[in-house]
Amino acid sequence: MIGSACLELSKIEFHWDDSHPSLINIDSLNLNRGEKLFIHGPSGCGKSTLLNLVTGVLRPTSGEINILGKNLFSLSQKERDQYRVDHIGIIFQQFNLIPYLNVYENISLPCTFSWKRKEMLTIQKRNIYEESVRLLCSLGLSDEKIISQNVTELSTGQQQRVAAARALIGSPEMIIADEPTSALDQDTKQGFLELLFEEARSSNSAVLFVSHDLTLSKFFDRTISFVDINHCTT
Ligand SMILES: Nc1ncnc2c1ncn2[C@@H]1O[C@H](COP(=O)(O)OP(=O)(O)OP(=O)(O)O)[C@@H](O)[C@H]1O
Ligand SMILES: [Mg+2]
Repeated sequence: MIGSACLELSKIEFHWDDSHPSLINIDSLNLNRGEKLFIHGPSGCGKSTLLNLVTGVLRPTSGEINILGKNLFSLSQKERDQYRVDHIGIIFQQFNLIPYLNVYENISLPCTFSWKRKEMLTIQKRNIYEESVRLLCSLGLSDEKIISQNVTELSTGQQQRVAAARALIGSPEMIIADEPTSALDQDTKQGFLELLFEEARSSNSAVLFVSHDLTLSKFFDRTISFVDINHCTT
């Protein structure tokens, strides 16, 4: 399945409401299975908003978004929420870990909501707990005690790895990462990306990564400037 379309975005326009001008106006954007795409752009240009459109959290004012050949907005809200957790692992800009759950409970959440992601582990002959520990270890957190710690006790770098493990568990076809390295130094950033890519590669997951940090571009298959593809005049 390498090379088949994971994301197809066509003639997308988005504005917050009638009092706001158009924020996003993109003719086309594609991402294939297994591909690593980097989109860079300055703060406030609309990167997180674009990712919210791609994941169907926000509805575009016009245009079409297909994930794995399915038009997201042909689905009901409930179907769309399920489709998202089944097929997309998301690393949020602020990580969005659940503060009253421990590390294991946070990582395993997608398997609670998605039969498909849980089933994928069964096919791989892995149980959820062992896979959570394996992912954390492969992302650089090899101290097993961390699995039962509260997420609020973790450093930013550790929280980021928990967020990445949660996105990767159950091998979703697409991983979306919203500037998850912004709080880290350059060497740690690079190390994190290498580990993230290694895991994504083993599942043939596509990676869509947004950041303002253009120095990360060299680690990706393809780089796009948000400002170049966004045809808003404002
Ligand atoms: N809920 C909202 N209602 C109205 N405007 C919003 C809302 N959320 C964001 N915006 C505006 O949309 C624009 C794009 O914001 P967005 O968060 O997508 O930028 P970004 O490129 O991700 O920035 P950063 O690099 O700082 O994360 C900004 O001008 C922001 O103020
Ligand atoms: Mg953002």
